[in-house]
Amino acid sequence: MTTTPVVAIDGPAGSGKSTIAKLLAERLNWSFLDTGAMYRAVTALALRQGIEPQDTLAIAAVAANARIETIPFISINDLDVTIEIRQPAVNHAVSIIAANPMVRAAMVERQREWSVRQPVGTVVEGRDIGTVVFPDALLKVFLTASVEERSRRRGDETAASIQRRDDIDSNRDHSPLRADAGAVVIDTTDKDIASVIEEIVQCLNLR
Ligand code: CDP
Repeated sequence: MTTTPVVAIDGPAGSGKSTIAKLLAERLNWSFLDTGAMYRAVTALALRQGIEPQDTLAIAAVAANARIETIPFISINDLDVTIEIRQPAVNHAVSIIAANPMVRAAMVERQREWSVRQPVGTVVEGRDIGTVVFPDALLKVFLTASVEERSRRRGDETAASIQRRDDIDSNRDHSPLRADAGAVVIDTTDKDIASVIEEIVQCLNLR
């Protein structure tokens, strides 16, 4: 599927994915992709356009036609949505929109295209990276943490909102959140960032 080496990092909200994936990419000098930001960007644009998250065809059209950039900031169709995508309205709608198989197909295609264009390797974080997007990833990591710790880390989002997203993400029909059989599962509840990165680097060195 791709010849660019990929480290896939999946897990629920607040498990440490974004921070760890970003720092790992810096350490390896590899490119980094936050796929959650892509689903959030589609959600932000759909909400701006007054489209209901349940309107699957209209949302699919937004996703299919969107130009999304995640570096240096998050934009969709040249609109900077970096701040907007963290708003409660987006937290509330994103999991419904991400459960739409047409939206997923459009995002997965972009993620694969992006990856093969990277010069060295990529660290990609999300919910379905090891299971669906890059099943041949060099290394698959699934990060977890207790619900209490995850909501403590995500001070900007209520525990109820995180729990609701987790439920929708884990129980959807298409590409649900789950650890791939080949993933290294790391519980980050009582671990600091540096030690988790060390653990991942050790696993990579063994590949
Ligand atoms: O940062 P946090 O873990 O809270 O969420 P995110 O990575 O920004 O993802 C936001 C939402 O996008 C998730 O709750 C999922 O509904 C969806 N998502 C997905 O379905 N597949 C991905 N690969 C990444 C995110």
